[in-house]
Amino acid sequence: MKASNLPVDEARLWSDLMALAQITEPNRPYTRRSFTPLFLEGRAWLKQRFESAGLTTRIDAGGNLIGRRPGAKPASGTIVIGSHSDTVPSGGRFDGTAGVLAALEVARALDERGQVLDHDLEVIDCLAEEVSAFGLSCVGSRAIAGGLSADMLAYVGPDGERLGDALRRVGGDPSRLAEAKRSDIAAFLELHIEQGPLLESEGTDIGIVETIAGITRLELTITGRADHAGTTPMHLRRDALLAAAAMVSAVRDLARDISDRGAGYFVATVGEMHVEPNAANVVPGSVRLVIDARAERHATMEDFVARLRKTMPDVAARNGAELSAIATLSDVLPARGDAALCEALAQAADSLGLTHRRMASGAGHDAMHFSRIAPAAMVFTPCRGGRSHCPEEWAEPGELAAGAAAIFGAILAIDRGAVKNERG
Ligand code: GLV
Ligand code: MN
Ligand code: MN
Repeated sequence: MKASNLPVDEARLWSDLMALAQITEPNRPYTRRSFTPLFLEGRAWLKQRFESAGLTTRIDAGGNLIGRRPGAKPASGTIVIGSHSDTVPSGGRFDGTAGVLAALEVARALDERGQVLDHDLEVIDCLAEEVSAFGLSCVGSRAIAGGLSADMLAYVGPDGERLGDALRRVGGDPSRLAEAKRSDIAAFLELHIEQGPLLESEGTDIGIVETIAGITRLELTITGRADHAGTTPMHLRRDALLAAAAMVSAVRDLARDISDRGAGYFVATVGEMHVEPNAANVVPGSVRLVIDARAERHATMEDFVARLRKTMPDVAARNGAELSAIATLSDVLPARGDAALCEALAQAADSLGLTHRRMASGAGHDAMHFSRIAPAAMVFTPCRGGRSHCPEEWAEPGELAAGAAAIFGAILAIDRGAVKNERG
């Protein structure tokens, strides 16, 4: 990276990141799960940081924390920048938080340079981007795009709480979700660590995301029969976990077959399983498992789901159990970065002397949902060894500052009307 004299303050961005990372479950760094007291502690810290930067804060009906910097001509619309502050269990210090705090740094840098924008500018911490304890991801950005449905609000989480009640608990309002839906967004920009190895291995400063893979999550319920683990002979068992284990392998085989055929990027994972009654001396009576599948092309996802529905009942039956239900928890189409915003980011990177490349994202992001209602684009920054969703996740201060600087430059171009995006 050759850039120096970036318009943002690298040290200040880094110190914010390290400070927010300290708000974690002490025995399980770095964990700040959405809807938990720790999440709210992180939010309180962020709110205070937003306000110290002169932003006016609010929580919208979708539970998103928003800091607003008014523009000179608000009729121009709002430029929104940000990401999410929640983490996966034992996650990293950068996934999501880098985007929120880079957005805050951009707002501060605009102030310090006396840049009055025509557009209103909003820094956003989107609620629950990671799959939450309610089985849903991107809760806040779905609300902004008008995609948080009544069905989803009824999803049940730990202790029987419904998502709608949890949303209220963190400051949102499920009865006013229509107010969270936005039509004023002129552009949405999100910085995120790449979460893969490409930029680092090539020595490229910045990735500009052209496509984000679609994500489908299916919950399969496998029903067997709970019996005494000491007295029930092996040939008389209907062990639901045994059937579930065979299904995990079958999902892997199916995913390999599909990705080997070259129908675009495709992966599928079983990362969550609930065994009932989950006791050492009881044959498992039922299992719920969640399949997370990602496809660059929607037709590939449709093929996967159709083949899964066809083959999985037999896999269960061969193992003495029954596949009793398949529920779609979430089904998000692949998203495209707005071409003009991508070009604005590329030009901003060029003028800073940063190298860049176009790329696809296998990870999901809030930008997917924003892209349904507004021009949206993402900047990826390098991520050491491609490791993410783990405590080893690492990014260099200068790399993050470079990404923030590219967003800073693109915002100035958008504001002066130099970016003619696909939506006019
Ligand atoms: C978000 O981190 C995802 O699941 O891709
Ligand atoms: Mn993540
Ligand atoms: Mn993320």
